[in-house]
Amino acid sequence: MAKISVFGIGYVGVVSAACLARDGHQVIAVDVDPGKIKSINAGQTPIVENGLDELISKAVADGLLEATDDVQYAIDNTEVSFVAVGTPSAPDGSVGLVYVDDVCKNIGAALKNKDAYHSVVIRSTIVPGSCEGTCIPTLERESGKTAGVDFGMGYYPEFLRESTAIEDYYDPGLIVFGAMDEGTAKILTDLNKDLPCDINVVDLRTAEMVKYCSNTWRAVKVTYANEIGNIAKACGLDGQKVMSILTSDTKAIISPYFMRPGFAFGGSCLPKDVRALRHLAREKGIKAHLLEATLEANEAQIQRAEAMVEKSGAKEVGFVGVAFKPGTDDLRESPLATLAGRLIEKGIEVKIFDPYVQEAYDTHTPGAGRGNDVIPNLPGRLTGDLDAMLNDAGAVVVGNYYESTVAKLEEVSKSRPVVDLTRLNKEKVSDGTYEGICW
Ligand SMILES: NC(=O)c1ccc[n+]([C@@H]2O[C@H](COP(=O)([O-])OP(=O)(O)OC[C@H]3O[C@@H](n4cnc5c(N)ncnc54)[C@H](O)[C@@H]3O)[C@@H](O)[C@H]2O)c1
Repeated sequence: MAKISVFGIGYVGVVSAACLARDGHQVIAVDVDPGKIKSINAGQTPIVENGLDELISKAVADGLLEATDDVQYAIDNTEVSFVAVGTPSAPDGSVGLVYVDDVCKNIGAALKNKDAYHSVVIRSTIVPGSCEGTCIPTLERESGKTAGVDFGMGYYPEFLRESTAIEDYYDPGLIVFGAMDEGTAKILTDLNKDLPCDINVVDLRTAEMVKYCSNTWRAVKVTYANEIGNIAKACGLDGQKVMSILTSDTKAIISPYFMRPGFAFGGSCLPKDVRALRHLAREKGIKAHLLEATLEANEAQIQRAEAMVEKSGAKEVGFVGVAFKPGTDDLRESPLATLAGRLIEKGIEVKIFDPYVQEAYDTHTPGAGRGNDVIPNLPGRLTGDLDAMLNDAGAVVVGNYYESTVAKLEEVSKSRPVVDLTRLNKEKVSDGTYEGICW
């Protein structure tokens, strides 16, 4: 069993402290608020949360939980400290790191006087780069020690929801943490190993980012549901009924499908259907903020790719894929076709390798080139000779993933600008002449 200090006895801190003690760990809770300290030491919960009172009174009675404002005592008598102080918005909307920084100062000063190894694990919600930019420098300055070497360092976000916090603690939807050293990684792995959830061990910044994505995604979902509800009501429909049927689709709607960062959406359905629902909303006098923003953001993603290609300075660009996705020759509203068309307008020579569009022309399919209204002389630009195209191109755009092209493209990307809009290889990130649109 571990000895753990928890800094900040707020909603997150007190629930973790109580659950850790319930699991048999020795826990010291630290706060600057004398009322909260007194309450815990009296075996009472300082917040209202289902089931918490019982946990705290038992943990205190069993001698597994105590509270204090004495930082040195807490550091000396534990091996790991969790930091769960508030991070309210600063006036400009940025994350407020004042309390986190204060705690890091206090912990750093106490670490200076402790010889044994100790890990500091931040649990507060902080934007990517905060551990490295604020917490670690403060801890190192105050302790005179080096993070990851003389003391352990980790970031381990909390995802619990108030009112079901204890339930969430034992049945989390997601576990992720970053650790600079093996000791901290082991403590966090051991603490989580019996929970019914995969453990994602990543770098500090990725863990910080995942926490923000979790909360902002929840916010976007609520906003989307509300927007649909508003449009549905204006059409005389029950918005909750619509959303309840929609979310029963776990194949496409409640799934990772369509949640893979990359290039713009397109094709014969999504753009026109977003436009039509937005139009209907406008007709009904409903402002569909998200639908408006969706089309704007999609256009911006095409412009982003355009800028990436232009940055290469290439006068001749080879496209791998032009249809709106692999496995089809459908060019209707393909963002790759839009991108190719814009580059051509700017005087850039574009050649295209797309086996499906090519096949449609080669076999004289009546719909060959279907939906293309942006690329002049498409048949003349198509080529089945990938090697020659890659050889001549000053830059390559990887638009669609075709297994047979991957090895060649990976090789080319070592020496020639390659703009990857789909991802050739999950392990590959922007580096040198290779640039992924979102990685
Ligand atoms: N509330 C939630 O449901 C929830 C869920 C997940 C993550 N989070 C994140 O966890 C963090 C904590 O949130 P919360 O709602 O528990 O905060 P909270 O405001 O309820 O509690 C913060 C506690 O920290 C204490 N504190 C401030 N300075 C201190 C110091 N120098 N030393 C010791 N204690 C100090 C405060 O007195 C307070 O008791 C935030 O970053 C929040 O975004 C919150």
